[in-house]
Amino acid sequence: MSNLNNKIALVTGGSRGIGAATAKRLAQQGAKVAISYNNSKEAADLVVSEIKAKGGEAIAVRANGADNQAPQQLIEAVIQEWNAGIDILVNNAGVFATGNLAESGVEVYDQNFNLNVRGVYETTRAAVPHLNEQGRVINIGSSIAHYAFPGASAYGATKAAVAGLSRSWAKELAPRQITVNTVHPGSINTEMNPDIPENDFAAYQKTLNPLGRYGSPDDIAAAVSYLASPDAGFVTGSELTVDGGLTA
Ligand SMILES: NC(=O)c1ccc[n+]([C@@H]2O[C@H](COP(=O)([O-])OP(=O)(O)OC[C@H]3O[C@@H](n4cnc5c(N)ncnc54)[C@H](OP(=O)(O)O)[C@@H]3O)[C@@H](O)[C@H]2O)c1
Repeated sequence: MSNLNNKIALVTGGSRGIGAATAKRLAQQGAKVAISYNNSKEAADLVVSEIKAKGGEAIAVRANGADNQAPQQLIEAVIQEWNAGIDILVNNAGVFATGNLAESGVEVYDQNFNLNVRGVYETTRAAVPHLNEQGRVINIGSSIAHYAFPGASAYGATKAAVAGLSRSWAKELAPRQITVNTVHPGSINTEMNPDIPENDFAAYQKTLNPLGRYGSPDDIAAAVSYLASPDAGFVTGSELTVDGGLTA
């Protein structure tokens, strides 16, 4: 499928996991793709070379989403690379910092909010003047926004916040025919949440899930790809949950 030909996409946190799968999928559909990363330069370069090997165009930009200046610099780098505005912004970079309220310090709150909320806010704020008409903003939330997960209250709150930002932005950007939506993944097998036999946490998550298994990064990439496509032009302010029925 090549329904994203000539589109420019930016996927934050595209070096690994859901972001890497999403970047490759959008590139497969014809988009020129920029990914950001913070620590994993080698992995980011690998994603870029995989895309290029299939005839696509891609760049990787180091940008710490929790940093004050980096989101603006990231957007400028993307604009300069192709001398064009951005059609698809996927705010995917995220951190899962945990700790019970009674036992953890405010650093758990800061770690989650600095990247998962402030980073999304600042990246989108920097992108807004450069988003093309009929553009797409797709924010990666989490099913945890909709159910209680002891030990992950701050993380859960960031993902509820992301959905809230998306809804307001959907209305703010509607006059330019730009859509804004949230995708809520459930348990997805990545380095953040590995589905490995010796992991009790993984086994526990499967008990919560009616399908009894993890999803893959490609399951989320498929949802993002739909929201990025021309087919989803009338979908905005929505939350698409991809969690195997976890929050059903
Ligand atoms: N996996 C799940 O079960 C699950 C469930 C619900 C929601 N999610 C959400 O899905 C998104 C992707 O998660 P994932 O599972 O793919 O995680 P992951 O495998 O840990 O990958 C995280 C990505 O974010 C990047 N990143 C981390 N900190 C960053 C920073 N400060 N600045 C820029 N990039 C940064 C990482 O790049 P570097 O390695 O270069 O730092 C990496 O590319 C996150 O928003 C997460 O909250 C995941």
